[in-house]
Amino acid sequence: MNHIGAIAFDLYGTLFDVHSVIDQCEQRYPARGREISTIWRQKQLEYTWLRSLMNRYVTFEQATEDALRYTARHLKLDLDDETKAVLCDAYLKLRPFPEVPETLSRLRERGLGLAILSNGSPHSIGSVVGHAGLRDRFDHLLSVDPVRIYKPHDRAYELPESAFGLSRASILFVSSNAWDGTVRLLETGGRMKR
Ligand code: LAC
Repeated sequence: MNHIGAIAFDLYGTLFDVHSVIDQCEQRYPARGREISTIWRQKQLEYTWLRSLMNRYVTFEQATEDALRYTARHLKLDLDDETKAVLCDAYLKLRPFPEVPETLSRLRERGLGLAILSNGSPHSIGSVVGHAGLRDRFDHLLSVDPVRIYKPHDRAYELPESAFGLSRASILFVSSNAWDGTVRLLETGGRMKR
């Protein structure tokens, strides 16, 4: 087995709860928060995948805003500029899952290098991590922005290799998203295999 020297975590849905935006959605659209958040997230991902296929990169914030506009249209909700700004801002202040701060501290105590590897822009990642007070847990906050293509494109996964100066086999990648990683999901009929 390879020695693991570093861990790279996905951000959205893995360390931070994308559905923490439900509270703000509920304030603007009572009883619709869960529905909005679910469609918003799904469309956000679809837009990033489509943009990668079309080679038409925009920042994750832009894809997130586009997905919110789609969600409002789809659900026939009025979305004024102020509401759009408030909800997009909520994406910069997501809550970490409760066990995350302590787990990261323990991993650091073991001397492992820690990074985030996210489709988020440097601004998004910095805001979310800073807002939660977790910046000191990470050696690197890695955005796909420099390579201008989203995960799961292979080029994105080269970023932690360069940042840590380690081969891919020595970096554990952790994501709650089944599509995320160099996973041969399609060839295995849905069972994950690296
Ligand atoms: C991330 C999202 C897409 O890259 O989960 O953090």
